[in-house]
Amino acid sequence: VVLCCCGSAGITGWLLLRPGIDTAGKVDFRNPLAVPPLAPSRIDDEGRRVFDLRAQAGQRDFGRGTATRTWGFEGDYLGPTLRATRGERVVVDVVNGLPEPTSVHWHGMRLPAVMDGGPHQEVRPGATWSPTWTVDQPAATLWYHPHPHGKTEEHVYRGLAGMFIIDDERESALPLPRDYGVDDFPVIVQDKNFDRDGQLRVTRNMFSGIGTLGDTLLVNGTVAPYLDVTTERVRLRLLNGSTARTYDFGLADDRPFALIGTDGGLLPAPHTTRRITLSPGERAEIVVGMRAGERVAVRSFPPALGNVFSDRFTGGEDTFDVLELRAAGTLAAAPDLPNQLVPVKRIDPASAVTTRSLDFAGRGINGKSMDMGRIDAAVVRGSVEIWEVTKLDGTPHNLHVHDVQFQVLTIGGEPPPPHLAGWKDTILLPDDDTVRIIMRFGDHADPNVPYMYHCHLLYHEDQGMMGQFVVVEPGQSAGTPPRGGAGH
Ligand code: C2O
Ligand code: CU
Repeated sequence: VVLCCCGSAGITGWLLLRPGIDTAGKVDFRNPLAVPPLAPSRIDDEGRRVFDLRAQAGQRDFGRGTATRTWGFEGDYLGPTLRATRGERVVVDVVNGLPEPTSVHWHGMRLPAVMDGGPHQEVRPGATWSPTWTVDQPAATLWYHPHPHGKTEEHVYRGLAGMFIIDDERESALPLPRDYGVDDFPVIVQDKNFDRDGQLRVTRNMFSGIGTLGDTLLVNGTVAPYLDVTTERVRLRLLNGSTARTYDFGLADDRPFALIGTDGGLLPAPHTTRRITLSPGERAEIVVGMRAGERVAVRSFPPALGNVFSDRFTGGEDTFDVLELRAAGTLAAAPDLPNQLVPVKRIDPASAVTTRSLDFAGRGINGKSMDMGRIDAAVVRGSVEIWEVTKLDGTPHNLHVHDVQFQVLTIGGEPPPPHLAGWKDTILLPDDDTVRIIMRFGDHADPNVPYMYHCHLLYHEDQGMMGQFVVVEPGQSAGTPPRGGAGH
């Protein structure tokens, strides 16, 4: 227990009551890890792959002996894994079976703004919204979640989220584990608080300023999960689906693992490491080697978030055991990982036509809070831009940009470390320092319908740390966002 130095009896008392959480070695892994089902799909007359995705209310017993009220897609909690191959045209029939408007955003996906599922595409209760687009980006682990104006934290926290896996020829040609539910697993990590009645509770801790931090981890909706491993190598698609907490994942015995992919796809080569930090919204694909009969836990160690004082309030001192990997007595052989994966062609900074600065502080970006009626930036279709992003307020923030996968040019003035050298759509911002990212925008111009960029700590997003950009034709200027939602 650390004493506070700020001299306020109230705060000191609160700190004494809330030491850092440490569940290392203390979790009784007793529940088999739930694996979200692959979403069924059908091919329509136009050759499009069609999915159903109904947001609905439900309930789940998270092992507390009580029915916890939840929201989910096609079920009570979380949603099925959507899967499509590069080049396919997809349609998702999103039905809102909830008592209030929501939306479904395809996080990490390149697609027209009107299909993006942000706050301008809210779906009314009872309505159906059927976005359609052609998947045209490398194999990656993306995800989907609601994005209603001012209510994203609550909707995600109640359970609305799922994975969207993209396949392509290059990834499929590599000797990687890819048998879903056999040697390739989604690992969606979320921290929750349950109240005395066993209900999920959004807590706004007045000291943390970062929204809800939970004391109980769910992985794919499972408390205290274990995973039976039957192969020598297992691929975990880690998604930080939490609303505020940042994790630093590793294995409890500190063994190295291979990081093979980040938000937008595979790295150029496997990167052997012992830790991977993921802030809310970020993904990492890792491959863990296992020996017959052993058990080892995936653990989240205290991430290097900032100074000790803020870590006290932001969960930065917490250690969690996440998921126990249990190897069978005999393991199926797995080929060695390839030395090379997929080249990541660097975007040439000289090709950038615009450089923008974004300062993150307080409740906004560049001193402005989100306004649905204000376009903050117009980018020319297909153009390359550099964004220089600086965090000024000592609070954990990250940046997520819709529609693009970006590359990190520098972070804190240095070239990106291996885990930030691939395609990214979300990045944790360093304290009092600048991240320079470069990206090429899409070809779908629409001066009236914006995409979002924002902090993915969802409380911050809801509080207004979000801006809007439109993609325009050369010479065109930004229009006016239409009022009203999507769907019929
Ligand atoms: Cu994952 Cu704008 O969101
Ligand atoms: Cu933030």
